[in-house]
Amino acid sequence: VDLSVDEEIAALRRRRRAVIVAHNYQPAPVQDIADYVGDSFELSALASQTDAEVIVFCGVHFMAEAAALLAPGRTVVLPDLRAGCPLADTVSPEDVRALRARHPRAAVVAYVNTSAAVKAEADLCVTSANALRVIEALAEDEVIFVPDANLGNFVARHTRKRLITWNGTCRAHNAVRVDDVRTARREHPDAPIVVHPEVPPAVAERADAVLGTGGMLQYVRTHEARRFVIGTEAGILHRMRRENPDKEFHLLSASLWCPTMKYTDLAGVARALRDLEPRIEVPPEVATRARRALERMLELGRRREGG
Ligand code: 13P
Repeated sequence: VDLSVDEEIAALRRRRRAVIVAHNYQPAPVQDIADYVGDSFELSALASQTDAEVIVFCGVHFMAEAAALLAPGRTVVLPDLRAGCPLADTVSPEDVRALRARHPRAAVVAYVNTSAAVKAEADLCVTSANALRVIEALAEDEVIFVPDANLGNFVARHTRKRLITWNGTCRAHNAVRVDDVRTARREHPDAPIVVHPEVPPAVAERADAVLGTGGMLQYVRTHEARRFVIGTEAGILHRMRRENPDKEFHLLSASLWCPTMKYTDLAGVARALRDLEPRIEVPPEVATRARRALERMLELGRRREGG
């Protein structure tokens, strides 16, 4: 029989006892067949709780690694191994060890957009949904934060703690300009502008809200405005439009497009379910330490907060 790719995915998903999860930035057809679509924090929490034997992670490599760390004994597959995160690649475990040696009293906080090897060098992880609250809750007054400089600056402006930041940025978010905000205000004067904390500080300062992707989805759902300008990766517009068919969404800048998020397609999902490859595994000595950093985040970060 000749099955459509959707039917093949449905049959394999049952046979493999698999769950398909997708990040809010994934292409529309992938979001539509996923069991769950969410932000990095929600997908990590989900991985830590699932009964499924297989997790097909439609997102980028560090997210699948986090799922593998939080769901020991389960099989985690990433449909396309090319789906990396250039931001995560800006910092190495050696870089973190050097920072710690220079600032021995500081807590080391790794954004979830890091490799498992970097997480293993950190005291705990954060996502953009909980960075500010988790950092505020730390006993230390000094905090090393890697790798996103813009998110680090955002947190620094809202806390009295001293942040030591790294110079990593997300190419898509960091390319948003103040001029994009000016143009959006002119073209859509009634629309709130909502941006991700990975945008440059000058852009974040001029926005109406600075939120992670989960926070943005909640903001547009509950806000009375009919029209919004969105300053994060374009893939999120699909979910916003699907959940709010009576509202209008515009992208803040054409730069907001992540090439590696787009490697996932339905053929790749079907192949991953059939072959249980490419499999994401973390060596045990790294996994034990990296898992601890993620679990501390889950404990401290269950309640979502903007920023
Ligand atoms: P969220 O945690 O807001 O989903 O962001 C994901 C991400 O990778 C941004 O770079």
